[in-house]
Amino acid sequence: MAEVTLDLRGQPKTEAYAELKTHALAILEGVDDDICAMATMSCLLHHAFGHLWTGFYRVVTPGKLLRVGPYQGTLGCLEITFGKGVCGTSAAKGETVVVADVHAFPGHITCDGRSASEIVVPVFGRNRELLAVLDIDSEHKNTFDDVDRAALEDLVSWFQHRAA
Ligand code: SME
Repeated sequence: MAEVTLDLRGQPKTEAYAELKTHALAILEGVDDDICAMATMSCLLHHAFGHLWTGFYRVVTPGKLLRVGPYQGTLGCLEITFGKGVCGTSAAKGETVVVADVHAFPGHITCDGRSASEIVVPVFGRNRELLAVLDIDSEHKNTFDDVDRAALEDLVSWFQHRAA
């Protein structure tokens, strides 16, 4: 089961995320490598839901700078300062940011002009330090809601609670 890449489009979101989480946890069992886990989660989320861009920006200077990490999609900008754009806002606040319409978000950073809505979720490590943010961009407005927020926060809690 763990070797397949699931396509969960067409399933109710809650069920899709539950299946994705079970699958991701099975694949990542025994893994103790953040980049490996980020690459795996990017791949699984991207192919499960078919969004425009799915990936991580890693904290390279705490409180100051994010740099792109594993992702799937078109070319992402390489670095984002804390406080800038949706990713930098999420990183600075340590909170998930859901943007229904990126054109209405002051300071939104456009990497791909097709992006219309976005969710950015902070990723914390074992000591509650900010490791990265998970950014998912959609070509459609109003794509993400509290179901995505809760499911993605739960998925990335792997980095905080992993057993390995
Ligand atoms: N839109 C993001 C930038 C990153 S990418 O879209 C891949 C932002 O405003 O932070």
